[in-house]
Formats: sequence, C-alpha cells, structure tokens
Amino acid sequence: MMIAIGCDHAGVELKAQLSMLLKSEGIEVKDVGTNSGASVDYPDYGSKAAAAVSKGQVDRAILICGTGIGMSIVANKYRNVRAALCHDVYTARMSREHNNANVLVIGSRLTTPEAATEILKTWLHTNYEGGRHEERLKKISKIEESFESNESKT
Ligand code: RB5
Repeated sequence: MMIAIGCDHAGVELKAQLSMLLKSEGIEVKDVGTNSGASVDYPDYGSKAAAAVSKGQVDRAILICGTGIGMSIVANKYRNVRAALCHDVYTARMSREHNNANVLVIGSRLTTPEAATEILKTWLHTNYEGGRHEERLKKISKIEESFESNESKT
C-alpha cells in the first residue's frame, strides 16, 4: 500500500511521527511536505495529496493542519476523495466502516501524539463494511458526476 502524507506548518512534527508509524507498518510513504515550521497555505499541500488519491497514484492519504478543518475542505473538493476529520478512535473506525474514507485528516492542535497514533492505527486496520453503506457512497459519487455535467454546460 502507498499512502501520501501532507501538512501545513502546524503539522510538521505530527507528520514526522505518523510517517514513521506508516513505515513501521511496511507502508510506502509519499511525503508531499511541508517540512519546515515556516508559515504556508494548507490548500497547497492538501491539494498535492488529495490529487494523488483522486488520480489513483496512491491508495490513501493523511493530512494534518492545526484544526484539520482546512485540509478537510480542500481534500473533499477532489473527485473520489472521501476525507474524514477524526478526533478519536471512534470517528476513525466509523470513517472506515461506514464512509470508506480514503483520506484521514487530523488536527494537530487538538490531538495528542498518543491519540494520533491510536487514530492512525485504527484507521489503517479497519475495513469498509459495504452493504447498506454502498448505496450511500454511490449517491455521493452521483453528486460529483452532477457537478461535472453542470461544468460541461457552462
Ligand atoms: C494555520 O494557522 C491554521 O489556520 C491551519 O493549520 C488550519 O487549522 C486551517 O484550517
């Protein structure tokens, strides 16, 4: 499995920690930055990782900013991306079982390093349940398709 990981200046330390965890699990990591504490704009880094998921260049992505909100907004603009902002093990588990989330977003200013480790482990090892959830995800895909047909009319 290959996972892209990206952050803004608020998430550099947590990105390093979670990258090590991914590698220890035998996962190939595509680090899209940022890699210093200098202030940057989260859409620039969220876009790189979300686009890689959208195009199928990586299997999943992890995004980190201060609250997790900005990265969530950016990632969910991309086709085929289902980004979930997870604050605990429960939301991480549900985001996989019910939403088949392919992007995990964490708010570094709200999440301890220990909690982030548990969130990521849960997210990596929880499978999508399918079944009744599949129809719901298909409805989301239809919304994306409707945007595309609206764009072609303008
Ligand atoms: C940066 O200060 C902060 O706005 C950013 O990390 C994120 O929380 C945005 O949603």
